[in-house]
Amino acid sequence: DKKNASGKCPVMHGGATESSMTNMEWWPKALNLDILHQHDSKTNPMTANFNYREAVKNLDIAALNKDLHALMTDSQDWWPADWGHYGGLMIRMTWHAAGTYRIADGRGGAATGNQRFTPINSWPDNANLDKARRLLWPIKKKYGNQLSWADLIAYAGTIAYASMGLKTFGFAFGREDIWHPEKDTYWGAEKEWLAPSGSENSRYSGERDLENPLASVMMGLIYVNPEGVDGKPDPLKTAHDIRVTFERMAMNDEETVALTAGGHTVGKCHGNGDASILGREPEAADISEQGTGWNNKTKRGIGRDTVTSGIEGAWTTNPTQWDNGYFSMLLKHEWELQKSPAGAWQWQPVDIKEEDKPVDVEDPTVRTMPIMTDADMAMKMDPAYREITERFANDAEYFSDVFARAWFKLTHRDMGPKVRYLGSEVPQEDLIWQDPVPAGMTDYDVESVKEKIAASGLSVSDMVATAWDSARTYRDSDKRGGANGARIRLAPQKDWQGNEPARLNKVLTTLEGIAASSGVSIADVIVLAGNVGIEKAAKAAGVEVTVPFAPGRGDATDELTDVDSFEVLEPLHDAYRNWLKGDYKVSAEELMLDRTQLMGLTAHEMTVLIGGMRMLGTNHSGTKHGVFTENEGVLSNDYFVNLTDMSYKWQPVGDNLYEIRDRKSDKVKWTATRVDLIFGSNSILRAYSEVYAQDDNKEKFVHDFISAWSKVMNADRFDLA
Ligand code: HEM
Repeated sequence: DKKNASGKCPVMHGGATESSMTNMEWWPKALNLDILHQHDSKTNPMTANFNYREAVKNLDIAALNKDLHALMTDSQDWWPADWGHYGGLMIRMTWHAAGTYRIADGRGGAATGNQRFTPINSWPDNANLDKARRLLWPIKKKYGNQLSWADLIAYAGTIAYASMGLKTFGFAFGREDIWHPEKDTYWGAEKEWLAPSGSENSRYSGERDLENPLASVMMGLIYVNPEGVDGKPDPLKTAHDIRVTFERMAMNDEETVALTAGGHTVGKCHGNGDASILGREPEAADISEQGTGWNNKTKRGIGRDTVTSGIEGAWTTNPTQWDNGYFSMLLKHEWELQKSPAGAWQWQPVDIKEEDKPVDVEDPTVRTMPIMTDADMAMKMDPAYREITERFANDAEYFSDVFARAWFKLTHRDMGPKVRYLGSEVPQEDLIWQDPVPAGMTDYDVESVKEKIAASGLSVSDMVATAWDSARTYRDSDKRGGANGARIRLAPQKDWQGNEPARLNKVLTTLEGIAASSGVSIADVIVLAGNVGIEKAAKAAGVEVTVPFAPGRGDATDELTDVDSFEVLEPLHDAYRNWLKGDYKVSAEELMLDRTQLMGLTAHEMTVLIGGMRMLGTNHSGTKHGVFTENEGVLSNDYFVNLTDMSYKWQPVGDNLYEIRDRKSDKVKWTATRVDLIFGSNSILRAYSEVYAQDDNKEKFVHDFISAWSKVMNADRFDLA
């Protein structure tokens, strides 16, 4: 026995590498500040001066395009291509990457390469997509740093379509990879895969209301259950689920039918065998499986014997060709329920001519039964979907165009405005879902505009709150929102309760006048006004500063604004302005954290911004909660000085209200909410509060406030180098 002398293992058990109870498990109600500090330089193997979006500009797109075309028909023995074409598999991989996007918080989507990591790499619905990525590895290896996995995953499905005959709408590069799973994305609270809707932790309530922001019917699926709601076939019920989930991904009925039909115009379902003999998913598989999963060790398990979803068969006669075959197959046959060899529910034609059947994936002399999933049957049975299906069936060109555009939207919805698109295949046309903003003027006399603002009589609080409100809609998840475009003056934003419409209207009238007389954009003037307010407040605190400013914002118009799609950007809470629109199940401080993460701020930036904004009197509807100072309008560190002072005590007086009393006199000095007291109570946030309360950091406080502020104001300035 070669164990070491003491008989003890030479690594610490339960310590460094074995999983033990984490702090979050011991104190589940603690704030998980980690969501603000992910994807940092330590997890990234590239040097600090590596910039993917610069590197990809050197990518030889024509060569990559050619290599991908060749790959589609270069069948490998370890995972043979169905009918000698990998198109179906690649498209499903791309669709499952992009299809995790949900419009409610903009998270998910194809923009990060997260399909390489848990949980997504191991979701049951992503079975055998590990094979697709392994097939792509030689391409990734060859193009290296100039091609991210995220771009490659999105591009592979697009080229697959092109190689099968679709005229694609174009493609943009520029998706930067992450190096570990996202910590911020809520994928659902279930504790088991594919838990049916009646079970504990189900994401459904009421009739069949899907929990927001989730956009799939259960943990582990991309969208809906292909066999029917909870595995019970019923195309009309499935239609309901499809409509809800696709809407959550910003797709209307026409786009939904186009995508589902266009998706299933090629490729097939795999279920020709016993699903129970598949091995575990990649993250749970044996070390010798090298990150692959769902391996079938007892049977051949490849080619015609592949088991993926358990459903078995193709949808069309020619599944490696872009054609209108899906519609003729669906509409020209009666369909009946059958079980696949793996025991899954699927629809098969009651009667079909031999020549209309697709051939076997390995032997073209053998004909096989086509199938429809319950979702495909929904395209025929739901009246609204049916109408669209018939239109597509009768107009192949129209179908191809709607599909190509919907596919482009699907794969680019989370990339943000068009200025972020890179490469030679970017389509010219502007699309409304890109939230277009015209370029603004950059060459003007900023100082003279600032003088006009300063002379306008607007208060510090009005100027700062308005600039904040115009910028705070930004979310880094899908790069939407922000101050550029000045959409705060348009519907629906001008009427949002969080924007205090009456006050906003008054301030905007003044600022619009200044913009008109100076010839600069209102978007720039709104941000400049915030700067004027902050500089005044800093000066009052004895610090002379100029807040950085980058001109060039443009003004959007109503025609350039898809009003419906902006509803999801409405703030329902804003800790920075100490406001909650309603009573929520989730605590105010967790909401603050979620918003802060979406804005791309760190925990100390959040801390300094909250403390500073309280001093500037920017609370919603003028409340005084958290305004721990005698000198409102002065950018002092009083907030932190008083929050950390033990001569006060903190007493709850309501659900989300506290009194701060002098211990000696018992007099109420101030009031506060949870999002104030959390900066004294949470041990990490308290550490930051102490930094800003220190006697030697009064100036640092002002400078840090300004740099966090500028980050928010410029978060959507993708036009800046
Ligand atoms: C395959 C379901 C929408 C593209 C499949 C499979 C199922 C399925 C069960 C078989 C997987 C396997 O066993 O290999 C659904 C459902 C949808 C949906 C329920 C929602 C309504 C889409 C969309 C696209 C798409 C929107 C793309 C635009 C594909 C492709 C395949 C496929 C290309 C073939 C994969 C291969 O050949 O290996 N789908 N799908 N699907 N799906 Fe979908």
